[in-house]
Amino acid sequence: MLNREGKNIISLGIGSPDQPPHPDVIRVLQDESQKPNTHAYQSYKGSPVLRNAIAGWYQEWYGVLLNPDLEILPLAGSKEGIMHICMTYVNPGDLVLIPDPGYPTYQSAAKLAGAEVCTYTLEEKNNWFPDLEVLKTRIANKNAGQESVLMFVNYPQMPTGQLPDKKLFGNLVSFAKENHILLVHDNPYSFILNKNPLSILQVEGASQHVIELNSLSKSHNMAGWRIGMMLASKEHIENVLRFKSNMDSGMFLPLQLAAAKALSLPSSWYEQVNQLYRKRKAAVETMLDVLGCTYSGDQAGLFVWAKVPEGMQDGFALSDQLLYQAHVFLTPGGIFGKAGNNYIRVSLCASEENILESIERIKRAGIHKPNQHV
Ligand SMILES: Cc1ncc(COP(=O)(O)O)c(C=O)c1O
Repeated sequence: MLNREGKNIISLGIGSPDQPPHPDVIRVLQDESQKPNTHAYQSYKGSPVLRNAIAGWYQEWYGVLLNPDLEILPLAGSKEGIMHICMTYVNPGDLVLIPDPGYPTYQSAAKLAGAEVCTYTLEEKNNWFPDLEVLKTRIANKNAGQESVLMFVNYPQMPTGQLPDKKLFGNLVSFAKENHILLVHDNPYSFILNKNPLSILQVEGASQHVIELNSLSKSHNMAGWRIGMMLASKEHIENVLRFKSNMDSGMFLPLQLAAAKALSLPSSWYEQVNQLYRKRKAAVETMLDVLGCTYSGDQAGLFVWAKVPEGMQDGFALSDQLLYQAHVFLTPGGIFGKAGNNYIRVSLCASEENILESIERIKRAGIHKPNQHV
């Protein structure tokens, strides 16, 4: 509405990469779609070319060996996987554990499947890692030894940007095993502003208890292409496929072949992608300094997560003030759950020029750190 009034709002909200995929990826899509024999229905399991490319990518970057015929399922994005997993495994009344703050789709998908949603709070003082002891007592009554509990985790975490470590992943897998939980690790950000991509499947014996989701949306600037993947045991792949094969009939083959090309790109691709985000991140940090927000400097992923200054009511209040007075939109942390109330999330998917212009607008509007005179 403000845009319709001619206010020209700068959006630092959404995490949709604004750069194109590698030109070779687009070329494969073009070449393959010119061919007469690439337009038919595809296998539900995806093209073997794509499944082999996914296996190669997991081996090269995460050091995880996967059987491309049995343990990999291409998806139309990680988001599709979240819904399919809920529809496959959750019966009405089953418990689904959701991070707060966290990606809102976990909650919506679980509710659509009839789950009883239980949020677990992530706190800055615990590095935004779950407190597994607290969680254990909370689920003790519900979980009478059956696999009726599903738990979503996501590291690098959105919205907090918190990186995982191997110990966290080890603890999560042990927790899942001991408490008969099916753990779903959503991993779409491991290549963004992170030199050491990790997969929870690196933990020995994980695949019995864990499903991992991954995606080309962020790592390869292919959000609109809708290409993701599920990595899991043969049994979990078959279970999800039973549901998914009634929902769609495989992805367009040229898309799958272009995705395979993307997965074979050398490390220079990721360096190029991250170089841009590093520059933007520095500009966003300058903006947060002007506002008096505090933040951790080693966040991964497409956003910077920051705490609002003392004296500011919450992230909603700061977001409103910026929108109406400076015509800059950024996301109030409370939309990711109550634990995000005192935070804001700033996207790195805007040009550096727009971020710098936002700083100017903020200064012009006189919004700045409490007690700071500019
Ligand atoms: C944590 C998280 N998971 C999943 C997704 C969806 O990714 P995809 O484009 O692969 O469906 C997003 C997108 O913003 C996200 O932030």
